Amino acid sequence: MTERAIQNIYNKLLNWEGKNASQPYPIHKKLNADDFGYADIYEWIANTYKLDANKNVLDAGCGVGYGSLYLAKHYNCEVTGISLSDAEVEKANIFAKNEPSLNKVNFKLQSFDNLEPNCYDFIMAIESVKHTLNIDKTIHSLKNALKPEGILIIVDDFLVHENHNALIIKYSKDWALKVILKRNQFSSDFIIKKDLTSFVLTKNQLSLSLGILILTLLKPLIKVASIMRGGLYLEKLFKHNSMKYYVLEFKKSKV
Ligand SMILES: C[S@@+](CC[C@H](N)C(=O)[O-])C[C@H]1O[C@@H](n2cnc3c(N)ncnc32)[C@H](O)[C@@H]1O
Repeated sequence: MTERAIQNIYNKLLNWEGKNASQPYPIHKKLNADDFGYADIYEWIANTYKLDANKNVLDAGCGVGYGSLYLAKHYNCEVTGISLSDAEVEKANIFAKNEPSLNKVNFKLQSFDNLEPNCYDFIMAIESVKHTLNIDKTIHSLKNALKPEGILIIVDDFLVHENHNALIIKYSKDWALKVILKRNQFSSDFIIKKDLTSFVLTKNQLSLSLGILILTLLKPLIKVASIMRGGLYLEKLFKHNSMKYYVLEFKKSKV
């Protein structure tokens, strides 16, 4: 796996679902909003961490800028969004230009593995760290980019049972994942701030199996078929209770 492979996935996805989009859209799991109590994870983040104009935020793996623009617009935060996908960064910049009042948002092509030290009060990585090529390097870079007393949160899928190995392999292959995230890859200075697993929406087993079959048949015709299929394999893993959807939190000390 390489950064280029990740870039390809998100460029392809954008060409498929977002080429003509006029508004930023989320590229993460939809949660059961009624039970969760928030319309979206970014709303939960802003409320839980009291984000405001004084916070310099990094959206590490920003997609087309949905979360960065949301925080800038509704909470007046200064946000930098980074992605490995040039197509996403270009699209995010177009969305930002459409909102000239949002002059505190900036998008750039950059890896979360090569961040400048000591820059941000708050870093959020929503379903992006799963694409890491080297988990220790990624964690080190993210922690290092925090200012003293800064907070890092990682919202992602964590494997808790290895009981469906064939499924795990298929899922990693479709999404070009080099690492499957597990809680024990993160030291004890990370806490599970929230377990969001019960809010994850999944289709029934029959729909999932049928979807996987159809996407497998469509693979030679549709470029994003395997990416979409990877999402269904992941849903199956949630159905088997092999995955948890956690918010991990790390707080940097004063000095
Ligand atoms: C599932 S999308 C999530 C996008 C966004 N956080 C959201 O919730 O809408 C994953 C994002 O992580 C980005 N990504 C993956 N690996 C990355 C890396 N090493 N550095 C920066 N961004 C990365 C991808 O380019 C993509 O934008």
